[in-house]
Amino acid sequence: MALTDLQALEREYVMGTYARNPVEFVRGEGARLWDADGHEYLDFLAGISVAQIGHAHPAWVSAVSEQAARLAHVGNLYYTEPSIRLAERLSKLSLAGRVFFTNSGAEAIECAIKLARKRRRGGGVVVLEGGFHGRTYGALSATPQEAKQAPFAPLVPGFTAVPRDDPGALADAVSEDTAAVIIEPIQGESGIHPVAEEVLRAAREACDRHGALLVFDEIQCGMARTGKMWAWQHAQVEPDVMTVAKGLGGGLPIGACIAGPEHSDVLAPGDHGSTFAGGPVIAAGAHAVLDVVDDAKLLVEVTDNGETLAEGLRELGLAGVRGRGLMLGFEVDGAPDVARRLLQEERLVVNATGPTTIRLLPPLTVSRGDVREALRRIARCAA
Ligand SMILES: Cc1ncc(COP(=O)(O)O)c(C=O)c1O
Repeated sequence: MALTDLQALEREYVMGTYARNPVEFVRGEGARLWDADGHEYLDFLAGISVAQIGHAHPAWVSAVSEQAARLAHVGNLYYTEPSIRLAERLSKLSLAGRVFFTNSGAEAIECAIKLARKRRRGGGVVVLEGGFHGRTYGALSATPQEAKQAPFAPLVPGFTAVPRDDPGALADAVSEDTAAVIIEPIQGESGIHPVAEEVLRAAREACDRHGALLVFDEIQCGMARTGKMWAWQHAQVEPDVMTVAKGLGGGLPIGACIAGPEHSDVLAPGDHGSTFAGGPVIAAGAHAVLDVVDDAKLLVEVTDNGETLAEGLRELGLAGVRGRGLMLGFEVDGAPDVARRLLQEERLVVNATGPTTIRLLPPLTVSRGDVREALRRIARCAA
């Protein structure tokens, strides 16, 4: 079907929530995508930090297809080994507590909010300006952006936003009535803004002082994206609860809310649930992703390739280069137009998070050669 026909079909049958780019992708392999006309693209967005191990990774494909051929779904009334082993693996890699699986990032945040509110009934939730935690009501209430929130008022009550870079304001906002502080250690959707270590530390101290839960949203910055398994490990500020999604499934929908041991029993039978969450096919895919990214050599490569990419962007004279590992952003006038030209003229997939910011999130398995090639393409459009 021609793209124009597909677009007409979309207009007729799909709610208009997405401003899609005029490209139909039909195939992917590693850091490469192909459109319906056979053009090859370099993917420096990875489905927004989802294709962590690239597209169609052979181990992921066989894990998912073998599990699909054996058993796709029974639901959470029964045991399936891939799911429970995945919880074990995530726990051992993070907070050494227990896991609740979800189908998305927003749902992982919902779980964290429910856990925190059950633990401290009626408690408030403190979030940072610029943070993004999802589109469901709880997650949207934790996302202090007027344009996203206003049409959907009234939101869930009890959420307070403080500036991203003010440890004092954050400390002042936390009290005995605070259930949780929720922070993305590197804000992704608002344009790749690392939260300063002193802010993370202030949040930890305030939560300890007042008995509130510190929740880190690692949905975009986790899963080895920054050169460590979790972004908070750079600052060595450990949360009480964390959320993961996106890259965990390598393309299939899964999220997880992970609580440390002290908070692992807050949610009890009947408190929360989900029909599909943590199903065996998706869990099998997630194991294949972890097999690749939970690897010291890969973490070094992410760090090195991230440095090459960041230095290359700076050498091109681009302003505001920031981020960590393979989670980078830079400033350029007319970013949406630059992103469009990169896609259509240079066949490099990137994303503009705002009028002046381009975001880069390539697969973590991207080669050094592809990083250099992306820089050459960016040089022709943005520098
Ligand atoms: C940091 C962060 N939290 C939460 C979400 C929401 O995840 P989902 O779109 O899977 O609901 C996102 C999605 O972009 C995100 O980047």
